[in-house]
Amino acid sequence: MSVVRPKPPEDPISYDAAAVLATGGMPQADLVGLIEPLEAARRESLADLERWRSGNAGVDPLDPAFIDLPERLLADYGTTRPESELFAILRAAKRLRETVDRVVVLGIGGSYMGTRALFESCCHPFHNELSRGERGGRPRLSFEGYNIDNDSAQGLLDLLTPAAGRADADDLLAQWAMLVVSKSGGTLETAVATRLLLQKLAAAVGQDAARLAERVVPITGASGKLASLATTLGCPDVFGIPDGVGGRFSVFTAVGLLPASVVGIDVVRLLEGAAAMTRRFREAPVAENPVLQYVAVCHLAEQRMGATIRVLSSWSNRLEAVGLWYDQLLSESLGKDEKGATPLTAVTTRDLHSRGQQHQEGRRDKLITNLCVGEPRRDPLTLPGLAGSAGNEDQLDDLIGTAWPTMLEAATDGTNEAYASVGRPTATISLPRIDEHTVGQLLQMLMLATVVEGRLVGTNPYGQPGVEAYKKLMMKRLRPEG
Ligand code: PA5
Repeated sequence: MSVVRPKPPEDPISYDAAAVLATGGMPQADLVGLIEPLEAARRESLADLERWRSGNAGVDPLDPAFIDLPERLLADYGTTRPESELFAILRAAKRLRETVDRVVVLGIGGSYMGTRALFESCCHPFHNELSRGERGGRPRLSFEGYNIDNDSAQGLLDLLTPAAGRADADDLLAQWAMLVVSKSGGTLETAVATRLLLQKLAAAVGQDAARLAERVVPITGASGKLASLATTLGCPDVFGIPDGVGGRFSVFTAVGLLPASVVGIDVVRLLEGAAAMTRRFREAPVAENPVLQYVAVCHLAEQRMGATIRVLSSWSNRLEAVGLWYDQLLSESLGKDEKGATPLTAVTTRDLHSRGQQHQEGRRDKLITNLCVGEPRRDPLTLPGLAGSAGNEDQLDDLIGTAWPTMLEAATDGTNEAYASVGRPTATISLPRIDEHTVGQLLQMLMLATVVEGRLVGTNPYGQPGVEAYKKLMMKRLRPEG
């Protein structure tokens, strides 16, 4: 028997905006005219990295270290393996996998949305509902601390602290741990959920301080309230969010990689995909550069066609959370100074039955970017005969044997044709398949595109000063005397 494992595919993802040009609303000359500004924006985005590294960041927020983070993590892992960050992440993930059956990620915004995107795209769609054996011994993953929702928190507690007698303290299936993710370490939503769950976890481990510390993995900035708590608890595993990596750009730090590895996602391939995208971004000429082409079309669609709404239309349920992650990335990065397009995630064909009417005939303020997937991960289903009847009541006998991917392709092509027939601009990002390598490429492409667009239009993509207003006013109500 051969011990050589086949090398998993590394096909590139691609971007195609021919149907946008075909509407006539975006002359080719405009795209050509944007080549030089795009090259300048790329240079500036890469120069940000050098500026940050040399300590000349200035006063404005600057978090460009995500750009070469995947290649740096992989290089360190390849050369100084046992001392590397990635090694520590994999080791902590293994420990958690072996000791608990559920991990709860506490975090909000950039501190949890990337993890959700990885989980939903790369894991079994019903991961949490499978038995431990069917999950290959990987824990379930739950999320809290992303809202202040009483009933949702109570619902999670129902799962974590089953009625007395149902859970045995030594039963692996009843054990759980929490990853607390907050760069600032002081975000209220996450902090109150941390308190709530710490209390339950302390009770679950019989108030044993050492066991409690092992079950809490903080992922946070070098200092702050969460870092102090980690020290007090004596947590054996604590991960940092590196300087120069902002929350919404942190998916390829321990923030995303640790929970991903816990649930069995191949984080090395994820990083390899992301690093491959950074290489293309740096090296490919504008006309062949998916990041720069995407920025060009989104920007010109906004400028020339009034497309201030960007619909990311996923043709797979599994990419919906990627869309929600991107909504946050684009909104917080470019929604400043009364500028910035509005991102909107749709899942098709599902949302054709809710938004399709508006996309086809509503206000002409949208650019639709399809997220299409070449091949499914599982064997294609085919339409069976009608069980329990020989009467063809549903009138589908002529489609017996038609495969699910064939039906989806017909829906995609039909929708694109319908939009084209009324001049609705539609572009497509194509993933050959959904796996760690393509998801790594996609997330990195969207992060790079966001910062390049910021530099192109003169908006600092880093920082989110506007979010402070609600926080301040919320705290004023909670602490009127404070
Ligand atoms: O992108 C960002 O920086 C934000 O979305 C933050 O991730 C979010 O506000 C949570 O902040 P923190 O990680 O400090 O708790």
